[in-house]
Amino acid sequence: MKYDIADPSLADEGARRIEWAGRRMPVLKSIAERFAKEEPLKGLMVAACLHVTAETANLMVTLREGGAKVALCASNPLSTQDDVAAALVADNIPVFAIRGEDDESYYRHIYTVLDMAPDITMDDGADLATILHTQRTDLSPIGSTEETTTGVIRLRAMAAEGTLRLPVVAVNDSATKHLFDNHYGTGQSAMDGIIRATNMLIAGSTVAVIGYGDCGQGVASRAAGLGARVVVVEVDPIRALTAAMDGHGVMTADDAARVADVFITVTGNKHVLRKQHFDVMKDGAIMANAGHFDVELDLEVLGEMARDRRAPRRNLEQYEMADGRRLLVVAEGRLVNLGAAEGHPADVMDMSFSNQALAAEWLAQRAGTLEPAIYTLSADIDREVARLKLASMGAGLEELTEEQKAYLSGWREGT
Ligand code: NAI
Repeated sequence: MKYDIADPSLADEGARRIEWAGRRMPVLKSIAERFAKEEPLKGLMVAACLHVTAETANLMVTLREGGAKVALCASNPLSTQDDVAAALVADNIPVFAIRGEDDESYYRHIYTVLDMAPDITMDDGADLATILHTQRTDLSPIGSTEETTTGVIRLRAMAAEGTLRLPVVAVNDSATKHLFDNHYGTGQSAMDGIIRATNMLIAGSTVAVIGYGDCGQGVASRAAGLGARVVVVEVDPIRALTAAMDGHGVMTADDAARVADVFITVTGNKHVLRKQHFDVMKDGAIMANAGHFDVELDLEVLGEMARDRRAPRRNLEQYEMADGRRLLVVAEGRLVNLGAAEGHPADVMDMSFSNQALAAEWLAQRAGTLEPAIYTLSADIDREVARLKLASMGAGLEELTEEQKAYLSGWREGT
């Protein structure tokens, strides 16, 4: 079996962490049990480009239970957990990912999994799908699945341009994905990454959250819960207004740059913090990015402005400006929750990856019948994932009585 990982001797530690994460993924486990009986992916090759974490390992095992051959590469050069990669290889799942790999190695690994001629590709950021549309147009998988907002945006741009040539399931668009993973997962783990990298006290500090979407709302609420004064920067007036009514300050990036101690970008956009902001930030200001790509902070310009660079702590880089101010960047401006912490907790990835497994099954059931387009799993699947998660939490779910159903579907009874 071919693979490329940092250190096979880390397999035992990785296996323990995969097992621990698996214990907190009961919905995925129930799907794995059904997959083992029904083998809906029998004979198919699934190539996944996802963060190589303990939770992803549980998804890979679930897909294999379903009868698939699987291979995994990383969707970010800094998010690979080398012990998990080693444990998967020891379990006969080929992995091509090394934490901290350079661009050349990152893309070589992506090409390697595509060389296996997958029937289904799984993306977090649309890297496999993009290459299937540029260099590897000779391959025609049944379809693809996409985990994150930025990937879905890239794929919708392909569809709008008329160049999309595959059916794609936008897993991010399932309610049981983006309302929970993006909000609670990013909210908690982004703060976790900043705290691990700096060991700073959040209480009493001013935290600027740039982008108040599903992720940003979670980050802002967790920062506020830790005692920060939160200021939000938004370009969308509805979301800016929501932030204001959620009790946060709302201001432009120019104004936030002068007052914040910590900046967290989570927009999916480019250069949201740039020279004009670096020029006015306070000495000691800390910047982190939780958006998919490492383009939200203009680090090229920051590097040019700096007269000195050093690393005061692991996962933290200090840029000293010509006037002596020190600006700090966590995890090279890459996804802070994966670069400086362990990514989302398993409890929430349980739902995201249940949707991924069900999306692969959905594509397999419809092989050859789907038009190239972006699809979303049905509301019934969403509700079923939510029901299973609630049951695993021991929560009760109220049911409508027949009288209530009739009342809600009628219009005559109004007084
Ligand atoms: P979203 O579309 O719900 O929110 C993004 C927000 O940023 C929007 O409200 C938009 O108006 C705002 N925005 C865009 N440009 C801006 C600018 N220049 N200044 C201020 N605000 C701006 O997207 P979502 O789901 O919150 O995802 C955001 C990013 O986080 C994406 O790149 C997504 O892929 C990524 N993501 C990261 C995760 C992680 O583990 N760190 C998990 C899930 C998503």
